[in-house]
Amino acid sequence: MARYVVRIRTPKSPESAFEYMADLANFAEWDAGVLRSEPVDGNAPGLDASFDVDVKAIGGPLTLRYTQTEFDAPHRFLAIARSERLTSRDEITVEPDEDGGAIVTYDAELLLNGVLGFADPALSLGFDRIGDRATVGLIDALEGERLEDGGPDGVSGIVDSALEAPIVPSFTRIGYLVRKQLEGWASLESYELSGKVVVLTGATSGLGRAAAEWIASAGATLVVVGRSASRNETVVAELIEATGNPNITQAPADMGELDQVRELADHVLANHDRLDVLIHNAGALTAKRTDASSGIESTVASQVLGPFLLTNLLLDRLAATEDSRVLTMSSGGMYTSGLTVSRLQMEAEDYKGAEQYARAKRAQVTLNEMWADRHGAKGIRFHALHPGWADTPGVDDALPGFSKIMGPLLRTPDEGADTLVWLAADDAALETNGGFWHDRVNRSIHKLPTTRKTDTAERRAALWDWVAEQVGVAVDA
Ligand SMILES: NC(=O)c1ccc[n+]([C@@H]2O[C@H](COP(=O)([O-])OP(=O)(O)OC[C@H]3O[C@@H](n4cnc5c(N)ncnc54)[C@H](OP(=O)(O)O)[C@@H]3O)[C@@H](O)[C@H]2O)c1
Repeated sequence: MARYVVRIRTPKSPESAFEYMADLANFAEWDAGVLRSEPVDGNAPGLDASFDVDVKAIGGPLTLRYTQTEFDAPHRFLAIARSERLTSRDEITVEPDEDGGAIVTYDAELLLNGVLGFADPALSLGFDRIGDRATVGLIDALEGERLEDGGPDGVSGIVDSALEAPIVPSFTRIGYLVRKQLEGWASLESYELSGKVVVLTGATSGLGRAAAEWIASAGATLVVVGRSASRNETVVAELIEATGNPNITQAPADMGELDQVRELADHVLANHDRLDVLIHNAGALTAKRTDASSGIESTVASQVLGPFLLTNLLLDRLAATEDSRVLTMSSGGMYTSGLTVSRLQMEAEDYKGAEQYARAKRAQVTLNEMWADRHGAKGIRFHALHPGWADTPGVDDALPGFSKIMGPLLRTPDEGADTLVWLAADDAALETNGGFWHDRVNRSIHKLPTTRKTDTAERRAALWDWVAEQVGVAVDA
């Protein structure tokens, strides 16, 4: 996602500035990237009014239909355009200025739909330049001047919000490397996990493999989970060799196969009398629809159903262990998806791997919050997180060429795993419950009003009930 915000002081009255901005037919006058803008069916600006806007795009003009979904004249309106490839959201706010003029804030967000969209960094990176050109036009049209942004308090706040606003620097190494310099950022080497039991799925590759090494180095008793016993064994041997920690074992399980998840739970319960941290990290973005043996689409089966069942089966052991945590590795890709239960599984005919992945990852973060609400009182902390973009075998498989385009901007697996290890080890994770973390900061699970709208109490309840029914556990277990 890319975001551009600018504030302009104009001598025009708030009413006249609002009237000009609200008429999207004026887009073409001030935004050099707009070729044509016309009201649909002669609509006047107002709630639900639509405008067809032709914008310059790579490969030829693209028509976006903007609809004014919120309209409060002469203060604020929101216009949203959604196409298969992108969602564009323009919010205009007009406030009276002290001397009779007005201050216009133009807040534009461009979201490329699906995780594959994130593979187009050129578009995201170019958004600032497009925004700057539009600002020049807007200053002219409003006969105004650009205002500098007011300062948030504290250096950490300034640096962090500067990185969070445009997604590209935030998700890449740049975000990690800058945030790491902020006050209070403890080194992962400082953590001590001796005597604690950690179960980590997806520990054989990428982020999970990196996290496994940090957790083993901190002295934890670690259970490595992946689909193949022999691959797991190899990783266990490597970890013992690298860290000198002998308390590392493995248990094979495909997280999409519920019988295997039940066997994994039995194994953990039989071999460990405590469980400090359960980490749901296993995951993949699959280009073609495949099904688990249950017939459930495999992304949903392995990243929504399997983790839900495992948490459920290990809940009592977690509750009996002081300060226990359940961590779920989601993805920033979920920001593009609303919450859906009826369309959680995509049909083979319209299956898009990136979209399917985003829907499952949205379900993960929602269920994480619900676990915290429903079972937090047992003393278990539930947290989800996203790692930004890291260079792993999983990313190479799912998005061939992405690592080449992004080059050194991608995080290393250690950098991508940082917040996961931090949540497993730092007391900060005990202070709240149900968080969604990125770079050690609790973030919102929505960045778009369109996805926020889908996140209703009824849909949440329906999601929980559907998942519980699929895995065969009592609804409010
Ligand atoms: N890398 C990124 O930039 C990025 C961004 C956002 C989110 N994530 C998330 O981070 C997590 C790790 O991704 P990664 O990039 O490190 O990928 P990776 O290198 O492909 O590692 C994936 C791990 O998950 C395991 N796994 C996959 N499917 C499984 C299944 N059905 N049952 C059990 N284990 C399974 C794999 O183990 P075996 O093959 O040995 O079974 C492997 O250890 C995933 O949840 C992913 O969605 C990654």
